[in-house]
Formats: sequence, C-alpha cells, structure tokens
Amino acid sequence: MAFTIAIDGPAAAGKGTIGRALAAHFGFAHLDTGLLYRATGRKMLQGLDPVAAARSLRAEDLLADDLRSSEVGQAASRVAAIPEVRQALLDFQRAFARRTGGAVLDGRDIGTVICPEAEVKFFVTASDAERARRRHLELSEKDPRLTLKEVVEDLRQRDARDSARATAPLRPAKDALLLDTSEMTIEEAVATAVAEVEGRRGA
Ligand code: CDP
Repeated sequence: MAFTIAIDGPAAAGKGTIGRALAAHFGFAHLDTGLLYRATGRKMLQGLDPVAAARSLRAEDLLADDLRSSEVGQAASRVAAIPEVRQALLDFQRAFARRTGGAVLDGRDIGTVICPEAEVKFFVTASDAERARRRHLELSEKDPRLTLKEVVEDLRQRDARDSARATAPLRPAKDALLLDTSEMTIEEAVATAVAEVEGRRGA
C-alpha cells in the first residue's frame, strides 16, 4: 500500500534530518529531492544544458561528493526555476512517492505539486539565524574558511528565488502541519513528527 509523507520548507530547516529519521522509524524509502536539482545544477556548472542534464540524470549523479556545497546549491536553485527542468524530474518523484511500502520525500513542492494526495504533509521551518548556524556547522567541516555571513547570504538568496519563481514556488500546502524547529532538538523534532504520522496512520 502507498503511504506518502511530504516534507517541504526553506533551505536548511531540518527537512532531510527529519525525513531520514521518519523513513528509518517507519521502514519507508526516503528521497531527498533537493539532490535531483543539485545534480542538475552541478552539470550546468560543468557546461551542460540544464534541461538536457535533468532529462539524462542517473543514480550515480546523486553521489557526487560536492553536491552539498553552496555553489552547487545556488546552481540548483537557478535550474529549479526552469519549468522544463521540473517537468523532467516529475514522473520519477511521483512514482517514488506512491511506491508500495511507504515513502518520505523532502523538498519544496512535494505537498503542493509532486504528491498533493500525500497522507501526511509537514512544512518544516526554523529562524533564519538558526538555519544559518546549523548549515554553517555542517559545511564548515569540509570548508573551514566558509563564514557564517556567506551561509546567511546563500540561504537568503535561495529562499527568495525559490519563493518567487512562477513554477512550483516554495509555500506550505493548505493541509500541511507547520513544524518550527528553531527551539527543538533533533530528537524533539523527530518525536513530534513521528507522533503526528502515527496519529494519521491510525486514523
Ligand atoms: O538542503 P537545502 O534545504 O539547503 O536544499 P535542497 O533541499 O538540497 O535543495 C536545493 C535547491 O533545489 C533549493 O534551493 C531549490 O531551489 C531546489 N529544490 C526545488 O526547487 N524543489 C525541490 N523539491 C527540492 C529542491
């Protein structure tokens, strides 16, 4: 049986962490849809046409070790505003969402466009300062020279671009549960999400 958990929200709000934990808890498959846009953006940086790149993405493209960098993130948000790129990635995401055995997808448009019929939808947020702090902590392990100011600017630009685009802009689905993780530990955020899903599964 299909059961879909959709997780959307701005950059670095904790969607991936919560998504992975929910998938592990319920034994569902997990797809970080940001990786599809990051892999496409990375190919654009290498000189490929973004639409052609999105149409020819392969599983191994999602394993490149620089996908999480700010530079690739910026490229991702630029290609993500191109309707043909989104269209090229649509069928894969929809099929993943409705696979047998349950699925968790995190991104920007999962509850609104990819899977409006998802059984549970979360819109995960956190304050700008907290999101920047977390992402800086994560990225500075690989890039010790990266400043907090650069991370703040990266998140601000991507959120603005992702919210303003005409196709599948970042916004909560009407029936999404808002989860503000600013003051929560990872454990608290995951426990809140698990309890919500359990409630809906029993319903
Ligand atoms: O991890 P973080 O929240 O920083 O970003 P991500 O989820 O890896 O997404 C990178 C970029 O891909 C975003 O800034 C969006 O522009 C785009 N994206 C999108 O448009 N739609 C999605 N479903 C997922 C990501």
